[in-house]
Amino acid sequence: MLYNVEEKEIMSAAGQHNLRKPDISVESFRLIIKKYLRRSAFKNKRILDIGPGQCDFLDMAKKAGADRTYGCDFDPAVGALGKLRGHDMTIANLKQGWPYKGEVFDGIFCRGSLNCCWFSSEERLAAFLDDMAASLSPDGWIWIAPWNNPVPGKEDFLEVVHRVSKEWADKNAIRIEIPSPRKREKYGLIYSIPRIEIWRRK
Ligand SMILES: C[S@@+](CC[C@H](N)C(=O)[O-])C[C@H]1O[C@@H](n2cnc3c(N)ncnc32)[C@H](O)[C@@H]1O
Repeated sequence: MLYNVEEKEIMSAAGQHNLRKPDISVESFRLIIKKYLRRSAFKNKRILDIGPGQCDFLDMAKKAGADRTYGCDFDPAVGALGKLRGHDMTIANLKQGWPYKGEVFDGIFCRGSLNCCWFSSEERLAAFLDDMAASLSPDGWIWIAPWNNPVPGKEDFLEVVHRVSKEWADKNAIRIEIPSPRKREKYGLIYSIPRIEIWRRK
């Protein structure tokens, strides 16, 4: 959701067309929080959203008492919007690896912004996922709905993605949920990809 002229102006330069729309509903984020995350998930916590788009989830985390809120995106417009709203933004392309090595968060959220098929090898994908898990505090939560869309000409890699992410999830006590069509609609997971998953801990 974009709330004023300044935000609309900033996001008019967004790379993804739909991020330029001012009136995207935030209801699906509310429903995700209600179902999966309690208030204690945010209170005095450090929360990261990977690819936050219009930064609505980060706003909700802050409102629910997060100590600090972080966003990572390769789009400078998203970086500028997040900064304007008081979030700690990092401009980085996730394809190049995990941008927060050595940093730790109490909660990591991501909806539709991470494609494991981007990585050029099994080793690079595994390294990315391990680095991300290393940035989660021991009792931290994770809620990630990846957008695993096969790269044209490399469709076979999807099998690797499913195997490697499953092994990684098992190792880190993360559950992989396959949401029903009703849940996909409710939580804004309307993607045309071979398999929609929610990775979650807690
Ligand atoms: C489909 S939007 C999702 C936005 C938000 N998470 C939501 O659910 O509404 C994808 C977001 O990821 C960012 N993104 C896409 N590819 C990226 C990459 N390679 N590195 C960093 N950010 C990326 C986009 O700029 C955008 O903010």
